[in-house]
Amino acid sequence: KTALVLNGPNLNLLGIREPQVYGSQTLADVERLCADACAAHGLKLDFRQSNHEGVLVDWIQEAGRGQKDGSVAGVVLNAGAYTHTSVALHDAIKGAGVTLIELHISNVHAREAFRHHSYISPAARAVMAGFGVQGYSLAIAGLAGF
Ligand code: DQA
Repeated sequence: KTALVLNGPNLNLLGIREPQVYGSQTLADVERLCADACAAHGLKLDFRQSNHEGVLVDWIQEAGRGQKDGSVAGVVLNAGAYTHTSVALHDAIKGAGVTLIELHISNVHAREAFRHHSYISPAARAVMAGFGVQGYSLAIAGLAGF
């Protein structure tokens, strides 16, 4: 089965963007880390990034279809700032009926108040935040264990 790891806006800038918050590893480094975690848990990896909300909606719907036909294990989603704004992503996760782990590199609850609310959390199976990029490996291990 495939683990879909979906990354939202500005995560293409990982490594350059606010390294004191997000660390110095790039998105390519994160993809390698996810590939290792998937290999360790007998999963295939499908790793994607988009800055566009509607593209993320399409990918979540695609993951839901994949989960129904048995090809997809679930989704690890770092929705970036859309976490705090997107009813559309909330509805997509519920509508697709997909098993989804919400992920944040930083501990959003220790940051600005506008990051404390998530539209993703009520639709997610689990939430991972504050482990840095190693959270991606931990989330894949968690997904494999569901
Ligand atoms: C983030 C946290 C969000 O608040 C922020 O908008 C991001 C990244 C994280 O991984 O810590 O873009 O999701």
